[in-house]
Amino acid sequence: MHPLEQLRDGALREIESAPEEHALEAARVKYLGKSGCISSWGEQMKTLNKDEKPIVGKLLNEVRSAVTAAIEARAQTFRAQKESKTLAGIDISLPGTPHEIGSLHPLTQILERSIQIFRRMGFALADGPDIEDEWHCFDALNTPPDHPARNEQDTFYLPGGPLLRTHTSTVQIRAMQAAPPPMRVIAPGACYRRDEIDATHSAQFHQIEGLYVDESVSVADLKGALEFFMRELFGPGTEVQFRPHYFPFTEPSLEIYVKSKALRGGEQWIEVAGSGIVHPAVFEAVNKARGDKAYDPEKWSGYAFGLGMDRLAMILFDIPDIRFFAQNDLRFLHQFV
Ligand code: DAH
Repeated sequence: MHPLEQLRDGALREIESAPEEHALEAARVKYLGKSGCISSWGEQMKTLNKDEKPIVGKLLNEVRSAVTAAIEARAQTFRAQKESKTLAGIDISLPGTPHEIGSLHPLTQILERSIQIFRRMGFALADGPDIEDEWHCFDALNTPPDHPARNEQDTFYLPGGPLLRTHTSTVQIRAMQAAPPPMRVIAPGACYRRDEIDATHSAQFHQIEGLYVDESVSVADLKGALEFFMRELFGPGTEVQFRPHYFPFTEPSLEIYVKSKALRGGEQWIEVAGSGIVHPAVFEAVNKARGDKAYDPEKWSGYAFGLGMDRLAMILFDIPDIRFFAQNDLRFLHQFV
């Protein structure tokens, strides 16, 4: 037996009987380390003659791979032992930690659907602050100082004069101040009123305001756009009704109703929006603020509307009480996953 083969057999025995990782590492250093037995055989190769060199060289390679493989195999055994020890301490039959699947709030869902519909009709998004001044909320919208909406019983006034906007119509004014006609925008957002809170009234609710200003815009345009919107949202057979009404900032003014079986009342007409043809006084107020005649009421006309977003969501998802939206009750929210 060649001394290298003896070396190999000894090494393999030692490796296989290594009781734990430290002993194995010691064996690795002893045989494969820089100044280990196998490495020093490599040094000795230089002293061999031509005939011996290839034979011993081949043998040396075989011994080195055999020892390397044995060390790896033994190390693998140790790793497996360690792993099964850890696993033995874990009860894999225990239930895991469940992850709740979230979803968008129903109001967000309505908002996204509505924006999508209006975008297809060419409306761009606009916005304005929730904390407003009286001018944007009332004066510019042709609402005189003695109008009941301006009463402290209806509006949240903040110290020093500002208020929480009572409708999103404020954004009509801001959009027109910012850019000349033609104008086609929607503005979704929160509104605030000191209402008695019940199933259909909340101190904070949401609207989508719309404004379209161009040359010769008529009630027919308004009806076409809003009917299209309602049918896209609620389905093609949805019946829509426009009833005469009064708003200071539109003339004529119309309330929009849709027929629905939602809200537990049986089939009924439900009011979903206010709308109308923009009052010339609104254009004049904007012109005055802009310091030009960009919104010349002789040249431009427009329609505007304010959709009740909460109401739309209540109809679409058949939610009987507006207070559910803000209660954060998971039993409610889970239904919209
Ligand atoms: N701002 C009105 C409200 O909150 C709704 C409304 C009516 C908006 C007519 C409009 C409109 O833009 O033209 O009751």
